[in-house]
Amino acid sequence: MRKPLVAGNWKMNGSLESVRELLEGLKSGIDAVSNAEVAVCPPYVFVPEVQKLLDGSAISWGGQDLSVEVSGAYTGEIAASMLSDFGCKYVIVGHSERRSYHGESDELVAKKFAAARAGGLVPILCVGETLEEREQGITEDVCARQLDAVIDLVGVDGLACGVIAYEPVWAIGTGKTATPEQAQDVHAFIRGRIAEKSAEVAEGMRILYGGSMKPGNAKELIGKPDIDGGLIGGASLVAEDFLGICTAAN
Ligand code: PGA
Repeated sequence: MRKPLVAGNWKMNGSLESVRELLEGLKSGIDAVSNAEVAVCPPYVFVPEVQKLLDGSAISWGGQDLSVEVSGAYTGEIAASMLSDFGCKYVIVGHSERRSYHGESDELVAKKFAAARAGGLVPILCVGETLEEREQGITEDVCARQLDAVIDLVGVDGLACGVIAYEPVWAIGTGKTATPEQAQDVHAFIRGRIAEKSAEVAEGMRILYGGSMKPGNAKELIGKPDIDGGLIGGASLVAEDFLGICTAAN
């Protein structure tokens, strides 16, 4: 049985004050949603504060990105060990905003996945097609290519330490959610692709949906057989909305 995971991706949002307020709201509401695993991924600078406020709670935390390097002269970069030092459990890799705005290739994302794994973090690997790619009918090809780059580097057993998030780029921050059927089709495809290498890994792999997930659509999405939770952007910045999604996943 796969335990659902609801992870908040705060992106580049918040202030020290708003982070404190949001976490107080989450902590006071989280007891009711104990069957789902819950995590938040703040911007790096807020991680120590998040650790201070969430330590001992039911909520985990993680980074939004990491370096492929272990340490050294890489200005602006953050290593897996640094995230671990501050209690991070998860790290997002290959978010479409990193792929498109920072030119991250499938190969680089695969190396980040490997670096996270080597550093004892659980990578949340994002895959997904743009609107243009969906209209061209190549959604499965794109997801397969992004997934295979990681399997080629770390093997299917290496993939097993992570979580996958299917995030159709056209649904991110747009208010346009994939229908539960559209999402389920791609999730089933991804699981099938993994099963070609290992049925066991495929069965245990958590595949989250991301893209305008809200309390109002979460239950139907997460209710699908191959959707094991969500990676939440906008709605993770409002305690009531994020908790609503956690409740739906419960
Ligand atoms: P959204 O973002 O929920 O605001 O669409 C999801 C994501 O980018 O992870």
